[in-house]
Amino acid sequence: MIQNSSRKWDIGRFFQTLNYFEVIPFFSCLQRLFTSDDKSKTVHLGEKKMGTILVAGATGGVGKRVVRRLLDNNYPVRALVRDSHKAREILGDKVELFEGDLTLKETLTSKLMDDVSAVICCTGVRVQPVEGDTPGREKYYQGIKFYLPEVVDSPEMVEYEGIKNLLEVAQKSLKYKLPERTIFDFTNPTLELKESWGAVDDVVMGGVSQSNIKLIRNRAVFSGNVSTDNNGGFASVRTRNFEPPLDLSDYDGIELRVQGDGKRYKFILRCEGKWDGIGYCYSFDTIYNFTQTIQIPFADLIPVFRAKTVPEAGNFDASKIYSMQLMLSKFEYNGGLNPRFSPGLFGIEIESIKAYGGKPKPQFIMISSAGVTRPGRPGINLEEEPPAVRMNDQLGGILTWKLRGEEVIRSSGLSYTIVRPCALTEKPADKGLIFDQGDNLKGQVSREAIAQLCVEALELPSACNKTFEVREEDQPKNNSNWQDLLSQLTPDSI
Ligand SMILES: NC(=O)c1ccc[n+]([C@@H]2O[C@H](COP(=O)([O-])OP(=O)(O)OC[C@H]3O[C@@H](n4cnc5c(N)ncnc54)[C@H](OP(=O)(O)O)[C@@H]3O)[C@@H](O)[C@H]2O)c1
Repeated sequence: MIQNSSRKWDIGRFFQTLNYFEVIPFFSCLQRLFTSDDKSKTVHLGEKKMGTILVAGATGGVGKRVVRRLLDNNYPVRALVRDSHKAREILGDKVELFEGDLTLKETLTSKLMDDVSAVICCTGVRVQPVEGDTPGREKYYQGIKFYLPEVVDSPEMVEYEGIKNLLEVAQKSLKYKLPERTIFDFTNPTLELKESWGAVDDVVMGGVSQSNIKLIRNRAVFSGNVSTDNNGGFASVRTRNFEPPLDLSDYDGIELRVQGDGKRYKFILRCEGKWDGIGYCYSFDTIYNFTQTIQIPFADLIPVFRAKTVPEAGNFDASKIYSMQLMLSKFEYNGGLNPRFSPGLFGIEIESIKAYGGKPKPQFIMISSAGVTRPGRPGINLEEEPPAVRMNDQLGGILTWKLRGEEVIRSSGLSYTIVRPCALTEKPADKGLIFDQGDNLKGQVSREAIAQLCVEALELPSACNKTFEVREEDQPKNNSNWQDLLSQLTPDSI
């Protein structure tokens, strides 16, 4: 049995802790409050949800709008372009350019996919009016007067071979990659450690344990001296509250990469912003001097208040995570003792904290075209069909090759979304959208709306493995609920 002895309590450390977390002591008991109005004492993890997004065809009518929307949403963007000078003028300097041509396989090196989590492919074989286009491609884009079109390159090369080439390089890096979200990567830190994590030791209850967290050799090292004197027995580090709270509801749990000292630690998540509220805990054992991956399923977290379980607190709500805490404690739960606890020096190194087990989201979004299955379809009335269907043969089988390109994507093993827009316009995205499957839809839709759809689809598991047509309604849009629109669609049977 561990003997409790008495030692001088360090009131300085006590106030240091309260000050770091903006906790206000009140009367004789500890009434703890976060001053949530003061955003300087919260952690902003940033909006970045994924790795880099690769946009192919970024200089095109839809592509440049996709790039702009991605940047507006704080995604890192890499653009695959044929001419970097032209691309820089169109896209500005916030986007990374990669020069390459879909039809020239050797230009699509593996570097194209470095840190890429998804591809949005807006390429298309160049079509222009037979009589030549104006400099900004106005004739081609304006869609009011019908100009007789011609293709400039080979549809087979761009729409099929090109897509095959891009997929090949994308598959190598994206296949079998399960969705995960990095929350802290101490090997490549983006936040000041001392601004986001601080020590919370038993000094807050009168104890004398001492710990800290420091960045050493690309790891966050939580170490210190834990003591059971003054009825204490825990040391911990905790993040300041996340602002906004983290939404990890699309994931199964938290994954830690740690190298420990053989002791048992607790990882604690809170889904309320209060200092002294309920923590959802998970205990895990470390192996001395050995790097481990610890998976903490949200479903296995135990609601605890000051080391006593609170079953009535209900399940953990992963949609609003306010803080994280890593603790070494003498106690397990409800008075039980940590079997691997011993007072004295300890240390655990954290490499990264991630969310794991995310539902698949689209890894490859392709803009195809309505009408791809219509050339040669029995019973089709060509008079009523859009020019690309009527003139498929004159345009080098443009839709036929687009369909072949789609088929390569559907059988790629990547999670994908294939968007088949009706005639594209330069108008604003101010109309509601109609989605359909079966390739019978006719009408038009703005490039802006298609760009918005592609960027929204990136975060929506319900967009996965679906092929669908899109056109605009005549009515102005009510707020689009992308999730609802996409959930109604049937996944492809491959
Ligand atoms: N126009 C319509 O009414 C309509 C209707 C339905 C679907 N679509 C399809 O929707 C998609 C987007 O349309 P959009 O109007 O945005 O197209 P767009 O303006 O013609 O843009 C096509 C993009 O593809 C790039 N590209 C062409 N060949 C390439 C190659 N070999 N390697 C790399 N990049 C290449 C072009 O780059 P450069 O700048 O270097 O040329 C350009 O960035 C296309 O697939 C189109 O066929 C169009």
